[in-house]
Amino acid sequence: MSRGSKGPFVALEGLDGAGTTTQLECLAVALKERGRAVLTTREPSDGPVGMLLRQALTGRLTLARSHAPLAEDTLALLFAADRTDHLISRVLPALEQGQLVLCDRYVLSSLAYQGATLPMAWVEALNQTARRADLTLFLQVDVETAARRRAARGGAEELFDAREKQQRIAQQYERALKSRSVGERIVRIDGEQSREKVTADCLAAIEALVP
Ligand code: TYD
Repeated sequence: MSRGSKGPFVALEGLDGAGTTTQLECLAVALKERGRAVLTTREPSDGPVGMLLRQALTGRLTLARSHAPLAEDTLALLFAADRTDHLISRVLPALEQGQLVLCDRYVLSSLAYQGATLPMAWVEALNQTARRADLTLFLQVDVETAARRRAARGGAEELFDAREKQQRIAQQYERALKSRSVGERIVRIDGEQSREKVTADCLAAIEALVP
């Protein structure tokens, strides 16, 4: 799934509340001001499987008889299926046109979130053929900071929002960052800084990739 793709493909990662969505918007504005053609997108995507996932994450899609949430491995498969669909329908065509693609969450999210409850090797296998990001920006924030920001934001609690779960996901992100740093460009950004400073650090990492 990677052949012929020009890139650059930049993924933003971090805990819920790390600021990936805010930074994605700030980065898109800054990059466009600098004359770059940019596509912003996200996972779960806005495609059919992504829509299903968003319903599952907010508890609106449950098992038929028991109304229990979807099983973790079902979710992992859906995230991988959404990724394939998203790559084919949006990301790869934009990269082909020479656009810079900024994606809110990508493979590392599967390794961290699904890997927190399932064997990471299996989750890695599901994502093995997905085109690698050219650059992953990991917005690092304390679990407490992320929790405070989520509380301030309000809204429906998603499946993954419980505090202990976030702690496990943070540890799993560390494992995933270690295993993926071999052969992949991953830059840690201090997400506790001001919004402007985080954007500036992200921009510097992107400019280092595509001057
Ligand atoms: P979203 O509403 O996009 O969260 P945010 O805007 O705060 O990033 O929901 C995405 C949720 O899906 C988030 O909790 C992380 C989770 N997720 C996974 O568990 N695995 C994945 O592969 C991806 C892409 C996301």
